[in-house]
Amino acid sequence: MTKQKVLILGYGQMAIAIIKGILQAKLYEKYDFEISGRNLQKARDFLQLHNIQTYFNVLENSSSISVADKIVFLCVKPYGLGSFAFSGEAFKVISVMAGVSIQVIREKIQAKTYVRVMPNTAAKYQKSSSAVYCENYSSISVDVLDENLDLLESFGNVVSVGEEKLIDASIATSGSSPAFVALIAQALIDAGVREGLGRMQSKELVRGMFEGFALLLKHEDPQNIIDAITSPAGTTIEGLSVLEKSGVRGIIIEACHQAVAKTKY
Ligand SMILES: NC(=O)c1ccc[n+]([C@@H]2O[C@H](COP(=O)([O-])OP(=O)(O)OC[C@H]3O[C@@H](n4cnc5c(N)ncnc54)[C@H](OP(=O)(O)O)[C@@H]3O)[C@@H](O)[C@H]2O)c1
Repeated sequence: MTKQKVLILGYGQMAIAIIKGILQAKLYEKYDFEISGRNLQKARDFLQLHNIQTYFNVLENSSSISVADKIVFLCVKPYGLGSFAFSGEAFKVISVMAGVSIQVIREKIQAKTYVRVMPNTAAKYQKSSSAVYCENYSSISVDVLDENLDLLESFGNVVSVGEEKLIDASIATSGSSPAFVALIAQALIDAGVREGLGRMQSKELVRGMFEGFALLLKHEDPQNIIDAITSPAGTTIEGLSVLEKSGVRGIIIEACHQAVAKTKY
């Protein structure tokens, strides 16, 4: 049986994150992989740097990139799409480009199906939390219909959304939020130092707390987590009172709103 061809366009951070997931899931047994971009020498260097030459052919192209019957992963900068010309009709285009609508992608590449994904930086550890929108599939569960879901799940958890605009909305929940949570982590480390802990001790304690917190969140609602550690007249309610007084929820919601609003079609 001939393997489905998958073309990765781009050789940056997101491309390597996706590729690592793909290789870890041994998807080379199901797909044949190609890579391309605007600088083919850079593509070759990228394969060599990550020692993944065995799994990828560099797609030499003169004037246009042949996408006929392929799954095409668009991993270039949003403004980079204009640098390419494509020929043929792709089987599927999967774009990770933030803020580039399917309408814009369709004007550049013909395909049977268009998919938009919003991964996050944890994709490099196969722990992305990615919203996915598949055109024509509407709100129907993606796992029933998408035979190439394995490509997306190879770099993390996937949540299907029924409207394209919700891809942008997921910038709030998972796309940009690792940066916001990192800010909180930094503040907690500094708080530990302020109270007398060494920086390394504080860092290690905060890191461990986040690991445990991920498990708590997996099994419990945020309110349950709060209730469980907030005893009457205790320490936690003192801290919570300060946070609530300064409107921390509103600030976080507004920051996320501004991040999403920055996405321009
Ligand atoms: N990193 C994340 O956490 C994240 C999360 C969600 C979505 N994304 C999306 O993933 C895509 C890639 O981001 P990245 O983080 O991988 O960026 P990156 O590491 O900077 O890589 C950018 C890629 O785009 C290419 N590129 C840049 N400008 C170009 C142009 N004018 N024409 C053609 N190609 C161009 C680069 O090739 P050259 O070196 O030849 O310029 C490189 O292959 C973006 O569209 C971004 O919105 C990233």
